[in-house]
Order: sequence, then structure tokens, then C-alpha cells
Amino acid sequence: MKILILNGPNLNMTGMREPNIYGRTGYEEMMAQVERAARSRGHEARIFQSNYEGALIDEIQRAWRDNFDAIIVNPGAFTHYSYALRDALSSVPMPAVEVHLSNIHAREEFRHRSVTAPVCIGQIAGFGAEGYILAMDALHAARAVKNI
Ligand code: DQA
Repeated sequence: MKILILNGPNLNMTGMREPNIYGRTGYEEMMAQVERAARSRGHEARIFQSNYEGALIDEIQRAWRDNFDAIIVNPGAFTHYSYALRDALSSVPMPAVEVHLSNIHAREEFRHRSVTAPVCIGQIAGFGAEGYILAMDALHAARAVKNI
């Protein structure tokens, strides 16, 4: 599968920001692990991070034009209020899985709601960087089960 791995605002600060919540592994190292996991499964991963909503939307549209098969998205705080990102995800036919490093449901109330998860096939939260790898395997399984 050709998979777009999309990370939203502040994820580039992983390893430095709130390490008690997000861990001490840096963003680059975390994504290198995810890249390796994708490659070992025979997937092609395009990894993109931006602090800007429009740049994330452009990347979703670009992946569609480039015939990508699936999206793994950690929208950061956009999860909780970006209808524009939600619309971008539902505008394209590729299945998406939402990932969060932390368990957003066990944190502040405003993090419990995701406006983007309803247009994804599922959400994985609370497993750190492993969540991206679980998402890859979930997409693979969903393709077989749901024929997407
Ligand atoms: C996050 C959770 C969000 O609530 C937060 O705004 C983030 C990171 C996570 O990966 O746990 O930036 O998406």
C-alpha cells in the first residue's frame, strides 16, 4: 500500500514537549521507526508534518492525485476542532486511521471529542509511536475484511 502518514501541529516537538505525556523519543526517530515498519511490511510511506491546517489539507489532496491507498493521520489539536481537515479527509476516497500518541480519552475534557475520527475507519490512541504501526496493520486487515 502507498500510505500517507500525516502529522499535525506540534508533533515535530515530540521528545521535547511534555515528555511525561508524549515520551522522550524525538519526532525524527519516531518517524524513522514508522518508516522502517512500513518498508518491512512492503508499504510505501510518505511522511509529512505541518503546523498549518492548509498544508495538511493540501497534502491529503496531493495523496489522492498521486493514487495513495490510505492515510494515517495524527491531527494534533486540530482533532478537536478542525472541520476543514475533517472535510478534506471525507473528500477523498482513501480510508484513514486516526492515531494519537496519548490516550486522549483519559485527558482533559476538550480532548475527548474528535471531529475527524467519524470520517476515519477507526482511531488508535494511547500507544505512543506504536499506534502508527498498529494503524498500518489495521488498514491492511480492514482491506481484507471490509474490502476498502
Ligand atoms: C495528540 C493529542 C492532542 O490532543 C494534542 O493536541 C496533540 C497530540 C496525541 O498524539 O496524543 O498535539 O494528537
